[in-house]
Amino acid sequence: MKILIVGTGYVGTTTALVFCEMGHQVTGLDVDDQKIEALQAGNLHFYEPGLKELLLKHIQTENISFTKNIKEAIKNNDVIFICVGTPRGEDGRADLTYVKNVAESIGKYMKEYKVIVTKSTVPTGTAELVTEWVKSAQEELVLFDVVSNPEFLREGSALYDALHPDRIVIGTTSEKARLTMRELYQDFQCPIVETNPKASEMIKYAANSFLAMKISFINELARLCDRLAININDVSKGIGLDHRIGPHFLKAGMGYGGSCFPKDVNALLQTAGASGIPLTILEQVVQVNAEQSLYFINKIKQALGGDLTNKTIAVLGLAFKANTDDIRESQSLNLINRLVQEQAMIKMHDPVVKLADPPHGPFCRQFQTVAETVSDTDAVVLCTDWDEYKQLDWMTIKRLMKQPYILDGRNMVDKGKVEALGFHYTGIANY
Ligand code: UDX
Repeated sequence: MKILIVGTGYVGTTTALVFCEMGHQVTGLDVDDQKIEALQAGNLHFYEPGLKELLLKHIQTENISFTKNIKEAIKNNDVIFICVGTPRGEDGRADLTYVKNVAESIGKYMKEYKVIVTKSTVPTGTAELVTEWVKSAQEELVLFDVVSNPEFLREGSALYDALHPDRIVIGTTSEKARLTMRELYQDFQCPIVETNPKASEMIKYAANSFLAMKISFINELARLCDRLAININDVSKGIGLDHRIGPHFLKAGMGYGGSCFPKDVNALLQTAGASGIPLTILEQVVQVNAEQSLYFINKIKQALGGDLTNKTIAVLGLAFKANTDDIRESQSLNLINRLVQEQAMIKMHDPVVKLADPPHGPFCRQFQTVAETVSDTDAVVLCTDWDEYKQLDWMTIKRLMKQPYILDGRNMVDKGKVEALGFHYTGIANY
């Protein structure tokens, strides 16, 4: 089947390459000429493990090509996936400008039947809007169907998630489009949930909101466990082994970030508000997440004697989580802002993220190595759970530091081991 992917971000590019693996012929299209030129040359404009290798492979097999020519791309393909961004608008709602632009272009250039699939995360009711936008741009009546087919990829493991999905969700009212989608996904060994577009769109928001809720639940419980000197990691393990609860997304830390959870939870709250049905649990999820980073800052302050003025702090990890170079809504950057407000000096490190324009001028500097970053600092603050940071040589680090303080925002360090080396260790209810 000939597939067009519009929007070559991490969702679009991953989706495109996975369809290549399944033997489909795929074209990638983007309004950003630089992205297209980079992809044509076999280069990714973002960091995602395993993806570059697959890109090079399918440039070789000629299963993938990239183009800037939207008119030809729409004409030449049967199924069009919309994978463009839906950033958070000023009022918290998803901004559908890019989706609308794509839908209108499809309407303008299509000359025969197309299946139009929204993979971007879009609010309930968007499939209907896409239908209207396509129709309104058509100069002559050409039939088409719209399908909602959300993605559930995590950054950092997008390729694995796309190749091994827990489920595939297909939302359409058209039998013809449903059959096309089944054919497209026929090689996947997972349940397929077939429903209408509205329910499919809701599934995506509900899934992300539920996961965010698990994180906020465990983070709030961690505060109580901290007070009672109970190890939250043991509690997570103990409840996660109950198959009704499950072990995932129960890792206490400094709060969730990233391009999805904050945006999607807010968008669902907006939909709820506009529908007159408040989602009060979800309101608390947001609240708890906002408080969690403050909670961690207070722990840093307490550990360092209550005043951070002129303290030099090494922040390890800038990405919002490991295995990505994404810093959108990163709790780490949030923390740096607050530490600088408290008059601290920051030395930063990340294995992958290189800030072109570090924030806060002279108060903040990024270093190439962990050794340079921790030298002459009063404390090391761990913000991103990179594997590299799980294997640090703390003995050497202690020699380089001014004061031996570790503040662990991801509960990733063995407390017993570092305390035995003479460190003062503080995690999130990590005993
Ligand atoms: C998420 C969803 O998992 C994915 O299905 C959806 O398609 C996009 O949004 P992503 O944003 O890439 O994926 O990251 P994810 O691994 O879900 O982590 C989100 C945030 O939660 C990160 O900041 C992470 O550090 C934090 N987190 C995750 C925790 O604090 N504790 C956990 O137990 C899990």
